[in-house]
Parts: sequence; C-alpha cells; structure tokens
Amino acid sequence: MKGFYRSKYTTASGEVRYAAVTQFEATDARRAFPCWDEPAIKATFDVILIVPKDRVALSNMNLIERKSYPDDKNLVEVKFARTPIMSTYLVAFVVGEYDFVETRSADGVLVRVYTPVGKAEQGKFALEVAAKTLPFYKDYFNVPYPLPKIDLIAIADFAAGAMENWGLVTYRETALLIDPKNSCSSSRQWVALVVGHELAHQWFGNLVTMEWWTHLWLNEGFASWIEYLCVDHCFPEYDIWTQFVSADYTRAQELDALDNSHPIEVSVGHPSEVDEIFDAISYSKGASVIRMLHDYIGDEDFRKGMNQYLTKFQEKNAATEDLWESLEQASGKPIAAVMSTWTKQMGFPLIYVESEEKEDSRILKLSQRKFCASGPHHGEESPQWMVPISICTSESPASAKLRFLMDKPEMTVVLEGVSPDQWVKLNPGTVGFYRTQYSPSMLESLLPGIRDLSLQPVDRLGLQNDLFSMARAGLISTVEVLKVMEAFVNEPNYTVWSDLSCNLGILATLLSHTDFHEEIQDFVRDVFSPIGQRLGWDPKQGEGKC
Ligand code: BES
Ligand code: ZN
Repeated sequence: MKGFYRSKYTTASGEVRYAAVTQFEATDARRAFPCWDEPAIKATFDVILIVPKDRVALSNMNLIERKSYPDDKNLVEVKFARTPIMSTYLVAFVVGEYDFVETRSADGVLVRVYTPVGKAEQGKFALEVAAKTLPFYKDYFNVPYPLPKIDLIAIADFAAGAMENWGLVTYRETALLIDPKNSCSSSRQWVALVVGHELAHQWFGNLVTMEWWTHLWLNEGFASWIEYLCVDHCFPEYDIWTQFVSADYTRAQELDALDNSHPIEVSVGHPSEVDEIFDAISYSKGASVIRMLHDYIGDEDFRKGMNQYLTKFQEKNAATEDLWESLEQASGKPIAAVMSTWTKQMGFPLIYVESEEKEDSRILKLSQRKFCASGPHHGEESPQWMVPISICTSESPASAKLRFLMDKPEMTVVLEGVSPDQWVKLNPGTVGFYRTQYSPSMLESLLPGIRDLSLQPVDRLGLQNDLFSMARAGLISTVEVLKVMEAFVNEPNYTVWSDLSCNLGILATLLSHTDFHEEIQDFVRDVFSPIGQRLGWDPKQGEGKC
C-alpha cells in the first residue's frame, strides 16, 4: 500500500472490484512518477488522469476539464487545476466508485466526504466535523484554507490511519465512517480526532512544510496536540483533554522512561530511517511537549507566534528552530533554550518536592532527576531540563498560584498566603511533562482532594499514574500506593478509572501465580465495588454517553 496502488473492495452484490489510490508519504511519490522526492523541493503540479468514464477521479485540486479520450471511447481525460507550490509527498489521486455527501463550510470551502457506494449516510458525521474544523483553524491561525475544495475519502485498503494529502485527505474506513445507528461513542471521538489531525496538517505541514524529515516530529506532534484543541472546541461534552492525558501523555512517559527511548529530534537519512520515526515519541511526546509549551506561553502569544510562522514560511519549508524563533518573538520568553532541553535529549525529569510550613506560607524545596523505569542510575550525572512549573492549592485547584521556570537541579520557592489546612499540588492540569514525587506528608495531605473530588480529574489521573510508575521503578513502596487507592472510593470519571484499572491490572498480572493472587483479587474487587454498584449493569436514562 505504497505509491500508486490497487485497493480491493466488494460491491453490494458481492462482486470484487479495484480502486486505484495513492500513498506517497514519506518517500513513495517516486514510485508513481519521476520526481525530486524530498520535502524541501517544492513544485506546482498539473494532474491529468485518463480513467474509465464511469469512475470517480479525484486529485488535490478541483476538476477543470473533462473530455473524451480519442483512442478509447470507454475512457475520459480529466484535468485538475494547478496546485499551489507544494511537496511531492502530499500529491494524491484516487480513481474508483464512490458516493459522497457535501456541504460548504462557513468560510466558503466546498467540503465532500466520499464513502463506499451506498454508504453516503456514514460520511455525515465526518462532514459535520470537517465543516466546523476548517473555520476553527482559519480563526486559530488567522490564515485561510488556501484551496477551493477539500475531499475526505475512505479507502478500503489503507496502511496508516489517515493521510493529509493537500485537498484530498485519505482515510482508513474506520477513521472516517460512522454508522449513525451502530457506531459507539469512542468511534465518533476517534473520527473527530483523526479529521481534526489531518485538517490541521493542511496548514501545519502542507502550507509550511518541514525542511527535512528530522523535523517530522514537529509536524506530527503539533497535529497530535491541536486535534484535541479542535475536538474540545467542536464537542466540549467529550472531556477530550482528560483522554489526551490517558492516551498520549502517560503513554509517552511510559516509553520515554525506558533506557532505549530516543530524543524527539533525531537526524535521519535513508528512507527506512524516516519510517522509523513515525512513532509514539514523535506523536505522543511531541504532542505533550507542545501542550506544555502552549501552557507556558499562553494562548494569545502562542497564536500570534503561530500566525507569524505560517505567514513567514507559507509555501516554503521550515525547521524546528524557525518555530521557536517566531514563538520567542511573540512571547518574549526563552523558547529555544527551554524547548531544546525537551527535544534534543531523551527522557524527562522526576521532580521531588517537600514542603515546610512557616506562618502563612509554604517553603517548597524542589529537585529534578531523570526518571528511569528501571530505577535511578546511581552515580551517573542526571541530564537536566528547563521545566515550566506551576503550583496550585486547594483554594483554586484548577489554576496556578505560582508559575516559574525551573532551570537548575534544585530550587526553593515560597508560596505566600497558604493556610495550614490547604493542600499544595504541582502541575495542575497535568500539563508539565514530568512526574512528581511528593514527600510522605505532602502526599498524605492531597488524599482528601482525591476523596472529595476537588482535585481535577486529570490531576487525579496523573497522581495515581505517577505513583504506580514510581512503584514499578522501585522508588516507592507498592503497599503505600495501594493505600492511596482507598481515596478513589467516590471516583466517577471514566477516563480516570480506565487508567487506574490498567495500572491495577499490571499489578494483578504480576501477582498472578504467586501467594498474593487471592489477596490482590480481593483488593481489586473492593476498589471497584462502589463504582460498580453505583453504575449498575444496565444503562440509565441521562447517563453520560462518553
Ligand atoms: N502523515 C500521517 C500519515 C502517515 C503515517 C504517513 C505514517 C506515512 C507514515 C498522518 O497525518 C497521521 O499522523 N495519521 C495518523 C492518525 C492520526 C490521527 C494520529 C495515523 O495514520 O495513525
Ligand atoms: Zn499526522
């Protein structure tokens, strides 16, 4: 499923047929036509296809001419408008049998979703998402979508999830089609995220393209972050950011704590090396550090910097440093210095924090050290990060009371105006890409915040995930972590439960076939009983669907 390839499908009557489709990223445009097949060698493309006259033929641009083909009356010649200046990996064409649904987005772009014949209805959800998403990005970047049309098409045989070809985005069927009667909420969320991801690339990737594949992480990490921003805008009821933390952030931390992880930015040469970096470090860690950066800069300056970058480099190529420069100019903050500690070295820090009360203030002592899944590497000097730290208290659990840049191995900070009955927590929103180890007394003081749900769901999720990971790394006692589970008796959030259940599952598997098997089974039953009883087995009226 590379280059210009054949995709097999079965018609409603059971007949086997073939469509002709393309997948060029990263280095397979050269399989379809001779070209300088590198992202920085951009050109315009005039596509002409000679196709059976009863087939749908699509390419990046709109059709401008259709005429009969003199040598064969069953064929027609179709010609598409000239593309803007673009990279070869984004060229696409599709020939096959499809139905479609269409609309015009508020910003005037003709949007079509192409589906297998007879399934047009299943394209309506993606159409609605795409029509909402285009104006969202236009407004967010303050740059209009540059083509007159965009097609989203479901391909029967497709290797990736989806591909952002400019103006003709190709999808695996499960990433685009929704059966209004039978598809579940998680499928809807997935389709919304994938559409949000590929449409973001129309600006970030297609209009401004990476100079070389070394900067692929920026393309994919950025799209993997902003897809959540977009879905949160279109469907606030999904509570999608909590799912980001569970799906991308914790996964990235799990992999990046291994000794065989790699830095986000890696130099690549041969095409096989390019294929290797389409991985969870580029996507999930990339998205997580961009989320941290966005939070550090603030939305207003971030958007200003993005607009400057997209305008300055439109129809051209850019490197990671070019984005940092634009963001640095917009924010006045040391973006390149901060971000290079996250993209050029692998891993991330564990921040150890202890606190001392002094009248109405808390003195917090913080220190950072690389977090290793295999336990601390004693005797080795730890790499250091420039960590944007924020701290909240029980007075306002969702907003930072204090923000600062931790640019040393150890720092002491003072929080003023914190009464002795308040708890203090690092990393509200679980935005900073680090784990936190609290002193026993600080951890103890946070438990009421879990029990009474005043800590945000993402923070309850992040806290237990840190604890389990530290126990697995041998830094703290598993028994102490299991004691914390008791505080989750009132937990109502599905995403928090799914992460917690995964962590307990790892432990239960570890203890199976040991003397503790029965005990851990009992323990897990106790943890899940209250929520099990509250929810019951059958769906109830008005119950959340996601
Ligand atoms: N550009 C990629 C598609 C791609 C992946 C091409 C690997 C070549 C090799 C696309 O934008 C993408 O990231 N697709 C994701 C889905 C997305 C929602 C994370 C995919 O295919 O998994
Ligand atoms: Zn992508």
